[in-house]
Amino acid sequence: MIVNRSARIRATIQVPPDKSVSHRSLIFNAIADGSATIERILDAEDVRSTARCLAALGAEIDWPEGSPVARIGGKGLHGLSESDDVLDCRNSGTTMRLLAGLLSGHPFLSILTGDAMLRRRPMARIIGPLRRMGADINARTGDTQAPIVIKGGGLNGIDFQSSVASAQVKSAVLLAGLYADGETCVREPAQSRDHTERMLAAMGAPITVNGEDCVRLSPAQRLAPLSLRVPGDISSAAPWLVLGACHPDAEIIIQGVNTNPTRTGLLDIMRAMGANIETIEERTSGGEPVADLIVRSSKLRGATVGGGLVPRAIDELPLVALMACFAEGETIIKDAAELVVKESNRVESTVDALSQVGAKITGRDDGFIIHGPVLGMHGGRIDAGGDHRIGMLGAVAGALTEGQTRIENGAVEVSYPAFWDDLAQASRPSS
Ligand code: S3P
Repeated sequence: MIVNRSARIRATIQVPPDKSVSHRSLIFNAIADGSATIERILDAEDVRSTARCLAALGAEIDWPEGSPVARIGGKGLHGLSESDDVLDCRNSGTTMRLLAGLLSGHPFLSILTGDAMLRRRPMARIIGPLRRMGADINARTGDTQAPIVIKGGGLNGIDFQSSVASAQVKSAVLLAGLYADGETCVREPAQSRDHTERMLAAMGAPITVNGEDCVRLSPAQRLAPLSLRVPGDISSAAPWLVLGACHPDAEIIIQGVNTNPTRTGLLDIMRAMGANIETIEERTSGGEPVADLIVRSSKLRGATVGGGLVPRAIDELPLVALMACFAEGETIIKDAAELVVKESNRVESTVDALSQVGAKITGRDDGFIIHGPVLGMHGGRIDAGGDHRIGMLGAVAGALTEGQTRIENGAVEVSYPAFWDDLAQASRPSS
């Protein structure tokens, strides 16, 4: 895709539905007692991977191609059956890790695989606790990488201290905990997104959250089906927030954004950097807080980002690095070593992408250092290598910098199939 600098930006954008909530709505309802309807489910490749794998396990999912509504006939906690083929999660880490937890509770054989990117990502972080719970679970390269082979059943609850703040790890252990004998407790170094806790509680699971970092779950007898309307994804609102704040003549209204506090680290970071963001029309949808956001051209200053803010903004940190190029002074992003094990190594891929358009950015083991403002940023050629977040980062960089930017392997269909249309709308001269 070719992106040119936009002279003026005026747009109203309805962001796509939340990816994390969409995955969970399918997985949890597949094991509920009864049927549920999910409205505004995200029709993107990652969520389709979850739906396909669940269907292979016998779940009843009626979700026609291109439809924003999915109907799920829950099979009950013990109603899934062995798939007659390997389960291909393609690019989706959430699919692989959450299903590994779910299938650890099922007494049949499952094999989870994915595309080359996913097969490189770390799986020891779920294999360790699931094995401690009693699952017979093995994986390639010394139990660290997919394919993962699971023979589940006979689980016991554990008290698990995760070394990483990861909602995927937490959710895998909690899903297995639904099937365990005794209580399961998950503690994390900082709170990760809590969609699993919210949804399981709404479905009647015996789950409690003690403080910010400890979740307890007792084995469930049954889950009640949960119909919901999925709120908009703040991770997909992020490109517009950063575009609007960095561009000198911009106003973007972003409608229906999930403002769950475990996801709004970007808003906190942007406000600390001086961004002009207004939150209006606060409401709830699908058990999550939702609001409309208005972002306008802003005078930005550098900041240090680290600690508990990081898991609350983990997928948005590459965009924070771009924003820092338009801010006065130094920005340091630290404590974000998890970036290295995302769809791509996002420390490297962000540094590579932003260097192509003239940024003064250096990678560190756990983040970046950026010096701003960069005068004379320019178009360039960015190969996103199939990482959707880097594809969108490159596109926003292109809309902000003089000259033409070429984005290769942008892969936006993984989480935001309408991204290029929305970018065209935002950049249209008359809009
Ligand atoms: C997700 C959790 C995050 C995030 C990913 C989606 C989820 O990963 O990066 O895009 O839906 O649980 P970690 O929990 O591993 O940090």
